[in-house]
Amino acid sequence: MPAVIDLRSDTVTRPSEGMRRAMASAEVGDDVFGEDPTVRLLEERVAALLGKEAALFCPSGTMANLIGVATVAAPGEEALVDCESHILHYELAGTAMLAGVQLRNFDAPPGGCPTPDQLESLRRLADPDHEPRTAVLCLEQSHNRRGGRVSPIKDLRSASDAAHRMGLVVHLDGARIANAAISLGVPVTALSAAADSLTFSLSKGLGCPAGTLWVGSAEGRRRAHTWRKRLGGGMRQVGILAAAGLFAIDHNLARLAEDHQKARRLAEAIQSAPGVVVDPDLVQTNIVLLQTSEDADVVIDRAQQLGVLMVAFNRHTVRCVTHLDVSMEAVEDAGERLRQVFAA
Ligand SMILES: Cc1ncc(COP(=O)(O)O)c(C=O)c1O
Repeated sequence: MPAVIDLRSDTVTRPSEGMRRAMASAEVGDDVFGEDPTVRLLEERVAALLGKEAALFCPSGTMANLIGVATVAAPGEEALVDCESHILHYELAGTAMLAGVQLRNFDAPPGGCPTPDQLESLRRLADPDHEPRTAVLCLEQSHNRRGGRVSPIKDLRSASDAAHRMGLVVHLDGARIANAAISLGVPVTALSAAADSLTFSLSKGLGCPAGTLWVGSAEGRRRAHTWRKRLGGGMRQVGILAAAGLFAIDHNLARLAEDHQKARRLAEAIQSAPGVVVDPDLVQTNIVLLQTSEDADVVIDRAQQLGVLMVAFNRHTVRCVTHLDVSMEAVEDAGERLRQVFAA
């Protein structure tokens, strides 16, 4: 059996030797008391990186997104999300169940960012006896289920301005915000400026074992801190994980561009195969979506037999993600194996 090439997600990366050394030597304290110096340093660095006042270390992106919504929307209010958003599809209705906030979705253009007109069309009547108050607009960049697509900065700005005119807070799921910034060739602050709060994941392309930061205002952080504890996310000597985050910011941020080149190469390698539609020109970051004529599950099983792992998004859509632990040679190899899968 040839070596397995795992393209299921950029979350499958394992911490490198250097990252493990940084973790082993981290100075730690009780972070629930705010006494872990490594966590504090990471929070300061991430807040500065994203041009915001404060950050809060959370165990996962799912929790940090929930905190982003729960801190600005009361039970019985609603959040606007794209119909392909991660919050809607993969966070187990946590906003409804744990924060009492309804999700109302719209079908955004391909980059996942709504137009101002689209947002205006969602404006509620001031009728508290019938309509819930809309509290927050959630954006996502890059956009996972839309194939890692990225919206132009001007679109993010105009969506954010329109949302603010409607009295909404803007929260951005930035699980892959650094991929988006690199793809656009802009600093991450160009994207984060469109949001009042956002998430910043360490455990995707940055290669850490865990951790996402909620990022926003100092006042928002106080409410986020309460929500994190309520959700069971208060951790103690977690500087061990924060040290991995600091290491990743120093060593793994700039290299995300390589993952984008690998994703494009993968798309090029299989674009002429029968039974699959994939357009390399639509690959903007590290995610490649394959539209398959056969059932996605059948394709995935066959690929697994040849040692290539992928996931299904729906019946005829398969996702591949490139990352730190898959080299360009492995991507070429995966392309060859997938050509066999589609030729079968
Ligand atoms: C776009 C996006 N947002 C949020 C998350 C949630 O992150 P976590 O797995 O850390 O809960 C993910 C995870 O893959 C994601 O892709």
